[in-house]
Amino acid sequence: MNSKSTEPTKQEKDLEERFSFAWSEYREIIPLHRKQFLGWITPLPLEFFRGKSFLDAGCGIGRNSRWPLEAGALAGCAFDCSEATAAVARHNLAPFSNCRVEINSIYDLRAQGEYDVVFSIGVIHHLKHPRRAVERLVAALKPGGTLILWVYAYEGNERYLRWVDPIRRWITSRISPSLTRALAKLLTVLLKAYVSLPHRQEYLVLLRERAFRHVEAMVFDQLLPSISNYWTREQVLALVAGRPVRVTQMTHTHGVAWTLIAEKTRDS
Ligand SMILES: C[S@@+](CC[C@H](N)C(=O)[O-])C[C@H]1O[C@@H](n2cnc3c(N)ncnc32)[C@H](O)[C@@H]1O
Repeated sequence: MNSKSTEPTKQEKDLEERFSFAWSEYREIIPLHRKQFLGWITPLPLEFFRGKSFLDAGCGIGRNSRWPLEAGALAGCAFDCSEATAAVARHNLAPFSNCRVEINSIYDLRAQGEYDVVFSIGVIHHLKHPRRAVERLVAALKPGGTLILWVYAYEGNERYLRWVDPIRRWITSRISPSLTRALAKLLTVLLKAYVSLPHRQEYLVLLRERAFRHVEAMVFDQLLPSISNYWTREQVLALVAGRPVRVTQMTHTHGVAWTLIAEKTRDS
C-alpha cells in the first residue's frame, strides 16, 4: 500500500483482521468448495479456464484458485491484502507450481492487460471504494479477457436484511471475532433446525444439505464484516459502467447473489 489515497482506513484494517481470524479457523479446502465455486461463476464451466491465465482478487484461503488450476489453467495469481490469509492460501496452493500467491490490496493492483480471466468472489461488496477496485481489476485484464464478479444481492435478501443483518451491523461486527464465532455456532444450530423444515427457496434447501461446520463458517463470514453491501442488479451494473467492458451475463445466483460476467473490449 504505497500511495496515500489507498492507505486502508481503520474500518478496512479491522475488516482485514476479522477475515484473517475467520480464515485461520476455517483454513481447509473441502470438495464442497468446488461445487460452490461452480455456483459462483455460473454459467461458466471449469473447462473455461483451460489454457488461460487468471487473477483471483481477494483470494482468502485460495479455494477458488484451486479448481481452475486443476482444470488446466495455464497460470494463476491469487492475492489477498492479509498476510496471514495469504500464507494459508500459499500452503493450500503449494501443489501448483504455476500459481503464485501475493500479499496485495486490490486498490494497489498495478497489472495492466496481463490476465485472460480476472475474478473476485465475495470481496467487492466489503470494500469502501468498490468502483475503484473494479477499475483496477478491469485494467489487469487482457483485451477480450473475462471479468467475473460475485457479490451479495439485495433481491432475495430483503427479509434477511430486515431481521438478521442488523445483528451484524450493531453487534457482531463490533465485538471480538471469537465471541462472534460463539454466536455463529448458536445461530447455526437455530438455522439448521429452521432449514430442516420443508422449504421451497433454493438457498434454504441448499443449506439443509450442507454439513454443520460448513454452514457455521458461512454464518460466521456473514456476521463478521463491518462493511457488507447488498446490491440491486442496477447497482452491480453501475460498478462496471464507464469501464471498457461489455456485460455478457448477469445471474441471480441461488436467488441471493449476483454473478456478473463481462468481456473487456478489444479496442481498449
Ligand atoms: C469473504 S472473503 C472471500 C475470500 C475468497 N474470495 C473466497 O471466496 O473464499 C473476502 C476476502 O477479501 C480480502 N480483502 C478485503 N479487502 C481486500 C483488498 N482491499 N484487497 C485484497 N483483498 C481484500 C479479505 O482479506 C478476505 O480474505
